[in-house]
Amino acid sequence: MPSVDLSKQEIIALLETEGERELKDLCRRAYDVKMENVGKKVYYRGLIEFSNVCKKNCYYCGIRRDNRNVSRYCMSEDEIVEAALWAHGCGYGSVVLQSGERSDAEFVDFVERAVSRIKKESGGELGITLSLGEQGRETYERWFKAGAHRYLIRIETSNRELYAKLHPEDHDFNARLRCIENLRDIGYQVGTGVMIGLPGQNVEDLANDILFFRDNDIDMIGMGPYIPHKDTPMGESLKWGEKEKRTWLELALKMIAATRITLRDVNIASTTALQALDPKGREMGLEAGANIIMPNITATKYRSQYKLYEDKPCMDENSMMCRSCLEARIDSVGEEIGYKEWGDSPHYFKRMKKE
Ligand code: 5AD
Ligand code: SF4
Ligand code: FES
Repeated sequence: MPSVDLSKQEIIALLETEGERELKDLCRRAYDVKMENVGKKVYYRGLIEFSNVCKKNCYYCGIRRDNRNVSRYCMSEDEIVEAALWAHGCGYGSVVLQSGERSDAEFVDFVERAVSRIKKESGGELGITLSLGEQGRETYERWFKAGAHRYLIRIETSNRELYAKLHPEDHDFNARLRCIENLRDIGYQVGTGVMIGLPGQNVEDLANDILFFRDNDIDMIGMGPYIPHKDTPMGESLKWGEKEKRTWLELALKMIAATRITLRDVNIASTTALQALDPKGREMGLEAGANIIMPNITATKYRSQYKLYEDKPCMDENSMMCRSCLEARIDSVGEEIGYKEWGDSPHYFKRMKKE
């Protein structure tokens, strides 16, 4: 079934759910919608955070350009391909290449080569998703030709005024919208998402985010709680104790559930940031309606330098440890892993038929 037309008020009511029992009921309702539309399988996207060099300066992000407390790295092409092939060997259906934003010619060539090699050396079997920020249309086209078929680019919030407060003046909300349009036009499956619980964000904004996903026919959604990072201009903006963590986690779960109930057949990630707020955060995400997990497959030596927010999990672990850890977590909620499958969203296939 395609998305149902819940009104903004109805979505707001879901997001305003209060009480333990009521939250459980909401998650159960979302879980039923998930079973009906995408089923019990969790699909993996092995995440390679290959460089923390970023030319941007988002006020919330731990690897922003002006943070001098980060030592910058870029994995070599061989290291990236090796990580991807490890994931392929384990039966992960896809990998995600993510980094800070760069758009110089050297970087564009580098990514193009890495993507082509992964495609070739995995015998065309690994799905390749990119998460490399705003780029010109030509760059997106080159990477698509090289073999990438999905692209993640979060809008962070659909509220333009709030967007302007989270970013320096040279960031442009319209430019991001153009990127989404270009990506779609080229043929990528497009993923977007927002941060949940940003200072100045209210439930109406979150409801509008869900309507934005719907109106833009988005195939995949990755969203997680906003978590302050101490070395950023917004790092001091919240008192972050156990009570706040609980509230933020619950809001994020409500957002996942409301998105599943509204959009039904899309892929929704249970993001790492959920696990930063509760050790069982990602399992809770699955129970609230998410169906995608991104196991970290970045070499351990780089992980501590890719800290977008405080308390990011898996910093000292390696790919193997995350693999067994997640297997146990997924098993604990009675779900199975869709090994060796790309796990495209049913929404994408329906959209293709329509176009
Ligand atoms: N808290 C939560 N998510 C964050 N991101 C960046 N900084 C933070 C933070 N402090 C997210 C943004 C970005 C993605 C790569 O990481 O949504 O798009
Ligand atoms: Fe760079 Fe992305 Fe962080 Fe912004 S959110 S500073 S673009 S890595
Ligand atoms: Fe990385 Fe649990 S998922 S250690």
